[in-house]
Amino acid sequence: MKTNRRSFLEKTGLGALSLLLSNRLFAKSSKSMDGLTKAKGPIFLSTWTHGQMANEEALRVLANGGSGLDAVEKGVMLIEADPEGSSVGLGGLPDRTGKVTLDACIMSADGNCGAVCMLENILHPISVARKVMEDTPHVMLAGDGAYEFASANGFEKVDLLTKKSKAAFKNWKKEQKYKPIINVENHDTIGMLGMDEKGDIYGSCTTSGLAYKMRGRIGDSPIIGAGLFIDNEVGGAVATGLGESIIKVAGSAIIVELMRHGYSPQEACEEAVNRIVNNEDTKDIQVGFLAISKSGETGAYAIHPGFNFAISNQEGTRLVNSDYLVK
Ligand code: GLY
Repeated sequence: MKTNRRSFLEKTGLGALSLLLSNRLFAKSSKSMDGLTKAKGPIFLSTWTHGQMANEEALRVLANGGSGLDAVEKGVMLIEADPEGSSVGLGGLPDRTGKVTLDACIMSADGNCGAVCMLENILHPISVARKVMEDTPHVMLAGDGAYEFASANGFEKVDLLTKKSKAAFKNWKKEQKYKPIINVENHDTIGMLGMDEKGDIYGSCTTSGLAYKMRGRIGDSPIIGAGLFIDNEVGGAVATGLGESIIKVAGSAIIVELMRHGYSPQEACEEAVNRIVNNEDTKDIQVGFLAISKSGETGAYAIHPGFNFAISNQEGTRLVNSDYLVK
């Protein structure tokens, strides 16, 4: 077993005072490449502006004695239930047949994971994903099967279309043009990475996917390794943006793998973006990645400007504009 800093200080008898002082020095002196302070947990990192609300809820859950897994679930549940968001849960824009279909996944520090895709009429797909993880021998349930499982487990049927999303769909029907607009309809996924006080890492990801997608289309968000990946020995990564491009490079898994081989979270996010850009024409494609390492160092990178994310720790919550490739 590797000796970490804490066990080294404890073993060498330097005691609590030294540990406290060195922790402070450590927190002050270490900066990741994106300028975010390297620190021990709790740390939460979530995509887009709505990440602020989600992170603060996650911190509250931990402070009230919840687990890291509870925190990443409950944090994103807030966004799923927000009717104002047009790309997650309630109020999410429908597919081109007018149906709202949801994709979500959750991954635990112990390596276990659960997912649902093309789930309809359920307010909290992330909680169904967690139930799949905890109560079934499977990782992912899809469509009607996912709905029947949710229903059998007490999840109520909810109409996810709102007055606003119905009107938007009616308007879209006039021309029926399918052309996702970067940073607009792609203000999509709420993806969250969380590290608890013990340094254990968890993640969650939930979305209604691309507006006016083909019926049956699944994005990256419920796919372990694409939209989300956690390896508690190494770190975690989460993605947002055009799911097809993220799936093609196994975006989140590749970031964690690069960190395992010595890349910082920032370098790993940049390399994943490079792989997408080398793979296809990304003029009209936005993808953003967030990553956290086992030491609490963070990274964020996108193809184009416009991707932002929230970072929270005990000192508070900040909204940060991600660095990007296409200057
Ligand atoms: N990143 C969400 C999606 O493509 O569905």
